[in-house]
Amino acid sequence: MSKQIRFNAFEMNCVGHQSSGLWRYPGDRSWQYKDLSYWTDLAQLLEKGLFDALFIADVIGYYDVYGGNIDTALREASQVPVNDPLQLAAPIAMVTEHLGIGITLSTTYDHPYTFARRLSTADHLTGGRIGWNIVTSYLDSGARNVGNAVLLEHDARYQRAEEYMEVIYKLLEGSWEQDAVVRDRERGVFTDPRKVHAIGHQGTFYQVPGVHMSEPSPQRTPLLFQAGSSTAGVSFAARNAECVFVNSHTLSGLKTYVSTLRQQVAEQGRDPQSVLAYALITVIVDETDEKAQAKWRGYQEYISREGALALISGWSGQDFAQPQPDQPVAKDQPGKLAALVNTFAGADQTWSVNQLAEYGSIGGLGQVFVGSAATVADQLQHWVEETDVDGFNLAYVVAHETFADIVRWLVPELQRRGVYQTAYAPGSTLREKLFQRGPHLPETHPAHQYRDPAQYQR
Ligand SMILES: Cc1cc2nc3c(=O)[nH]c(=O)nc-3n(C[C@H](O)[C@H](O)[C@H](O)COP(=O)(O)O)c2cc1C
Repeated sequence: MSKQIRFNAFEMNCVGHQSSGLWRYPGDRSWQYKDLSYWTDLAQLLEKGLFDALFIADVIGYYDVYGGNIDTALREASQVPVNDPLQLAAPIAMVTEHLGIGITLSTTYDHPYTFARRLSTADHLTGGRIGWNIVTSYLDSGARNVGNAVLLEHDARYQRAEEYMEVIYKLLEGSWEQDAVVRDRERGVFTDPRKVHAIGHQGTFYQVPGVHMSEPSPQRTPLLFQAGSSTAGVSFAARNAECVFVNSHTLSGLKTYVSTLRQQVAEQGRDPQSVLAYALITVIVDETDEKAQAKWRGYQEYISREGALALISGWSGQDFAQPQPDQPVAKDQPGKLAALVNTFAGADQTWSVNQLAEYGSIGGLGQVFVGSAATVADQLQHWVEETDVDGFNLAYVVAHETFADIVRWLVPELQRRGVYQTAYAPGSTLREKLFQRGPHLPETHPAHQYRDPAQYQR
C-alpha cells in the first residue's frame, strides 16, 4: 500500500472533550485548557509528529438533554465549561511553523459579514494556516440562548449554510482583487479603490451590500472542512469541503460513506481524490501490546458512563437517562447527530445503553485501536486499504499523554513503513501543504465563480 496516512489531532477548548471522566486520571492536563501553555505545548508536540493540524471542535450551548437538565454535564465537565476556539489560533501559530490550525465555527450563530472578518484575521495572523470546520450546530440549548425557541430544522440549517457560504465566498474571494493593496507611498495610495468591490448580496437569509473589511489573507478562504453524514450533509460537503471528518466505528460504514462522498464530489465536477477524508479514531499505543492493553485497562478505571451519556444524549437529542442500562439502544429519528447513534442500534448490531456508554467514554463513538506501534500500524493500514480514507482524526484519552505516545511510538513505525510523511510538504499555507498546489481554492471549486470582479459594483 503506498497511500500516505495523514493525522489530525482532535481537541476542544474544554476539559472533557470525548473521554468522559478521564480528567481525573493522574497527570491528565485537560483541566489546564484555559492556559496558553496547554495549547502551545500540544501544538509543538504535534508538529514534532508532523500532524497536518490541531483541530479544535466547538459547540454553542450545553448538554442538557440527559435527564432534562445540565447538572450531569456540569458535574462531569461534558464539553462545559468551554471557551472560544478561534482565540487559540494566533498563539499556536507563534510557536509552530507548519502545523495547521483547524477551528470549528457554526453557520448558525454568527452573521457571515462579521464572521468573514474574524476568519480573515486569523488567516492573516497564522500566515495562512487556518482550516475552518463548517458546522450547522445541533444543540437546542444554544438556540434558546440566542432567542430562538428551538434550533432550525436539520435540512433548513444546511439550506441556510449554503447561502452563508455564498456570502463568505463573495467577501473573501470576490470583494478585494488580489492586487488591490498597492501601498504606494509616493502617490499616497494604500488601497486602489477601483479594485475593491461591493458584493451586493441579497438573499433569503442575508443582505450584505458592501465590501469585505479585511484585505485578502494568504489563503483568502481558509481550508474548508466539514463533517456531514446525512443526505443534506454529504451533498453540502461534496460541494464545499476540501477535507471531511468521518465518524463510523465500522469498516463497512466508513467505506460506504467515503465512496458516496467521492461519487458526489465527482458529480460536482471536482476531483474525487482531491477531498481528504479523516476518520475519527482513538489510539492507545505503547512499547508492547501488553503495555498498551494495561494502559487501556488503567484508563477504564476512570471512565464516566454518565458523562458519556450526557454527551451522547446531546449529540442524538435522545435522553439516555430514561432507558435502563441493559436496555438496547433504540434507533433515533433523523436530525441532530442521530446517524451516529443509529449505527449502534438496529438489525445486525444492537448495543445496550451501558455498552454504548462504556464505548463512548474513550474518545467518543469512533473506533479504538490498542496495541504496540506495529499492531496499531497494521490496523490503520488495513482501514485505509478497506475504506479509502486518507487519514485519521485522533481523539485523546489523557492530555497530552495520548498524543505523546502516538508521536513517540506510532509515527516512527508508520514512517519506517513508508506510509507517513517524514517532513512537511513545501508551501507556507495549510492548503499548499495538503494539496501541493497554490494557496487558494482551485478553479473547480464553487467559490471560483465569485472571483470575477465584473459581476460586482464598484
Ligand atoms: C469528527 C466529527 C467532528 C465534529 N465536530 C463538530 C463540532 O465541533 N461542532 C459541531 O457543532 N458539530 C460537529 N460535528 C457534527 C457535524 O458537523 C454534523 O452535524 C454531524 O456529523 C451530523 O451530520 P449530518 O447533520 O449531516 O447528519 C462533528 C462531526 C464529526 C463526525
